[in-house]
Amino acid sequence: MAEEAILEFLQDHEEIANSGEFAAERGLDHNEVVNVVKSLHGSRYVDAQDIKRETWVLTEEGKTYADAGSPEVQLFLAVPPEGISREELQKRLDPSVFKIGCAQAGKNKWVEMGKQISRKVQHVDDTVKDMLTQIKDGQGIDADNIKALKARKLITPQTWTGYSVKRGSDYAPKRKKAATDFTRENLQRGDWGDLEFKEYNFSAKGPPAEGGHVHPLLKVRQQLKNIFLYMGFEEMPTNNFVESSFWNFDALFQPQQHPARDAHDTFFLKAPSTTRELPEDYVERVKRVHEMGGYQSRGYGYEWKRDEANKNILRTHTTAVSTRMLYLLAQKKPFEPKKYFSIDRVFRNEAVDRTHLAEFHQIEGLVCDRGLALGDLIGVLHDFFSRIGMSKLRFKPTYNPYTEPSMEVFSYHEGFRKWVEVGNSGIFRPEMLLPMGLPEDARVIAWGLSLERPTMILYGIDNIRDLFGHKVDLGLIKRNPICRLGIN
Ligand code: PHE
Repeated sequence: MAEEAILEFLQDHEEIANSGEFAAERGLDHNEVVNVVKSLHGSRYVDAQDIKRETWVLTEEGKTYADAGSPEVQLFLAVPPEGISREELQKRLDPSVFKIGCAQAGKNKWVEMGKQISRKVQHVDDTVKDMLTQIKDGQGIDADNIKALKARKLITPQTWTGYSVKRGSDYAPKRKKAATDFTRENLQRGDWGDLEFKEYNFSAKGPPAEGGHVHPLLKVRQQLKNIFLYMGFEEMPTNNFVESSFWNFDALFQPQQHPARDAHDTFFLKAPSTTRELPEDYVERVKRVHEMGGYQSRGYGYEWKRDEANKNILRTHTTAVSTRMLYLLAQKKPFEPKKYFSIDRVFRNEAVDRTHLAEFHQIEGLVCDRGLALGDLIGVLHDFFSRIGMSKLRFKPTYNPYTEPSMEVFSYHEGFRKWVEVGNSGIFRPEMLLPMGLPEDARVIAWGLSLERPTMILYGIDNIRDLFGHKVDLGLIKRNPICRLGIN
């Protein structure tokens, strides 16, 4: 309605001088008129200039007096012609009306203020109420009165915005609905030539993407996989969560009485509780190296038990997979250098807390070639970790049954301002490699780390249970960014 009124008016008038008056004359809501003017201005049907005016509106107190009368008049009317005691009058009036009323009526010399209160005039006019009503109705009052009402905090200023409106460059007496699509019907009807198209809004946001969200662990895994592939590594098959103790421990020169092997750290399988098949001649060499060494080693000097090696477990590290792959590699003649990696799940019988779960993921990389040394390992670690945004590294000697030397890897975290442990590494021992049948000068440098650790650092997650397991925070999975590597 407002739109038609404006456009029709401008057909035979130069301008609408003031949208406020225009609205009032036609009984239109000024807010609606303003919205229509803005919209018409946007599509150049009209040209609008804003008009700002300071106006006055009633405060809450002002509104009550506009309704019930000013306190001074309320007080005056409560004083009977014969007068009244102060106490009695006070009882009849609201405390604030009494207080303000006394002050104002006294000042106006309407009443005699003493112990006894009496009228000094016969009749009073409530000019305050009248003025407040005028302001409420949008009429002006003179400056002195404004000042007085403002001093009594009965009115406050407010900026009123309206418009003066003229025809715009695309003025038409009726607004055409802008077309958003060009359709077959437009062609059939032949009205396509008259269509006005709505302009594209290139800054509009699309609807939020619903549907699947990739888990942060999978995102980081995919990126790590790309890094390994880019560095020329081949992925090892990790599709066996169940492993025999032999491949998980014995082949890695991990003695059978090693504490990690007992029920506290390892999940043993009930059924099938033992493995069916192991390469017998290799088993024999492993047994020998444990019991009495060889390859310039003294071995552990204990009685190695086949039963212990046969026990099925959930693999405790992906190094079990590396072991199998190195054994297969050793069977290939002539020897072939290799770079392998894997990223998959491992299991440990541990107490679950905010940084530990009974199952997690390991990232593992290894390089097998003749004559590799510690410098090669350090170089590869720098290359690998800098690609995941961890370029400041430090190494600390540590112990693994299957590597010598062994190094823990620490990375400096700029956000935490401290060195955090990010992995473990080493050179596989001859007691592990030579029984497999690898050449004497073949060396294997290897490292492993959890996938959860860098993911938590990269995504700022401090409780592992928000990331993985049955209490996972789905909101976090949905909200987090697609890529995080290199920006920690
Ligand atoms: N298997 C080790 C672990 O579970 C990691 C590792 C891999 C260490 C390869 C050295 C070499 O922590």
